[in-house]
Amino acid sequence: MAGAAAAGGQGWSSRTAFILAAVGAAVGLGNIWRFPTLAGENGGGAFVLVYIAFVVLLGLPLVLSEILLGRAGGEDAIGSVENVAVKSNRSRNWRGLGALQITSGFLILSFYSVVAGWVINYVFISGGDFFGSLFAGDPFSVAFSGESQDAITGRMGELFADPGRLILLHALFMAATIGIVASGVHDGIEKAATWLMPAFFVLLVIVTIYGAFKGNFEDALAFLFTPDFSKLTPTVLNEALGQALFSLSLAAGGLLTYGAYVGKDVNLAPTAGMIALADTTVAILAGLMIFPIVFAVGLDPAGGPALIFQTLPVAFNAMPGGALVGFVFFILIFFAALTSSISLLEGPTAWVIDRFGWTRKKSAFIVGLVAFLIGVACALGYNVWSDIRPLGFWGIFAEADILDTLDGFTGKIMLPLGALLVAVFVGWKADRRLVESESGLSGGMFAFWRFLVAWAAPVAVSLVLLFGLIPGLLGD
Ligand code: PHE
Repeated sequence: MAGAAAAGGQGWSSRTAFILAAVGAAVGLGNIWRFPTLAGENGGGAFVLVYIAFVVLLGLPLVLSEILLGRAGGEDAIGSVENVAVKSNRSRNWRGLGALQITSGFLILSFYSVVAGWVINYVFISGGDFFGSLFAGDPFSVAFSGESQDAITGRMGELFADPGRLILLHALFMAATIGIVASGVHDGIEKAATWLMPAFFVLLVIVTIYGAFKGNFEDALAFLFTPDFSKLTPTVLNEALGQALFSLSLAAGGLLTYGAYVGKDVNLAPTAGMIALADTTVAILAGLMIFPIVFAVGLDPAGGPALIFQTLPVAFNAMPGGALVGFVFFILIFFAALTSSISLLEGPTAWVIDRFGWTRKKSAFIVGLVAFLIGVACALGYNVWSDIRPLGFWGIFAEADILDTLDGFTGKIMLPLGALLVAVFVGWKADRRLVESESGLSGGMFAFWRFLVAWAAPVAVSLVLLFGLIPGLLGD
């Protein structure tokens, strides 16, 4: 592909390949695990509304900003920002923005893989249940048949109490991620996205239709789309912003890096729009897939991180065909998680390739290994180290175990900071003509987009950071 020569001369083979890879990066645990969890905990409608506002007004403009920075820079995330800074006669130190982003992506990868390991655990469990019912001649039975609710929810506790199993599953997922990234942009990342994303969408539609027919769709709609504004606290705003950034894969090095592989012939503005639209649609569909099932059996939507691992299996257990649907559901999340984790690993890997001149295989392996080791600490945080509260002195992190601390610190602080820097850099510092020609926008559209990047994003992100974090620091 013309013009894409970053990180060892790699590039997407077509615009479609890029879109699938970028949508694959965006759609992941963030959409299916984190979004419904946060919506459930923060009162549904109000959270969803703020979330969508952040996606449209900040997320989308920043997706375009990051992809165009990557393409204009044509290297790994750090090198690209540095190149654009130099072309714009600005300090090379702006590359720190790339470094912050790559660090965020690397840290997210370490705990992301642990959670994806839980998903694999449930692929096995639900698969066992499904095949069990199949061989018993009753493929459409309920899931986990014959088990009590306590036994089903207890499975998560059993998993958490077993460091060996947590670490093994985490290792499996990280190995798969490394394998794909090591195979290259074209033969690894692109191929994985081209197979997994269409499969993901088919499965998503199947489970959503199932939920709409068999579940309590009305209550789910009311819950997700009736905002209760009394629920809108600064903390909720901070959560919603962090989630919008996380879900769109912003500020974590992935989009900057993927952008460098895009050919000059691709018009970036509509492409960014498609990525944001696809990501948001999947998040909402995930809500419409999960909550009808949860409400159908009268369970609590505010189940927290256990929503899809405990609440949902209990619901599947009570519903006809639940064995099959439960199995399909966990496979679908696994696919989504894998296409995201490869983008998390690609960012730091591309940097290591450029910086140290190592081969792609060696770079992917070493970066993945170190992320794996940090993830091991997260896994141990559920059992051996369950007393540890790494940032316990800080109000908003007081209760957080190791994994939640990493998740919260990256999501609430590092991603907003990374996004703020991108907005300031693209909105104020980068050469205006360069930005305009890369963006594919002109006239009023360009002016409006630039206003959102230069003014709306920095102001909103700063306010959210200020009001979200300071009370937390003082103990809320
Ligand atoms: N967007 C991914 C998700 O929603 C997570 C991710 C964040 C991927 C940052 C890449 C970079 O699951």
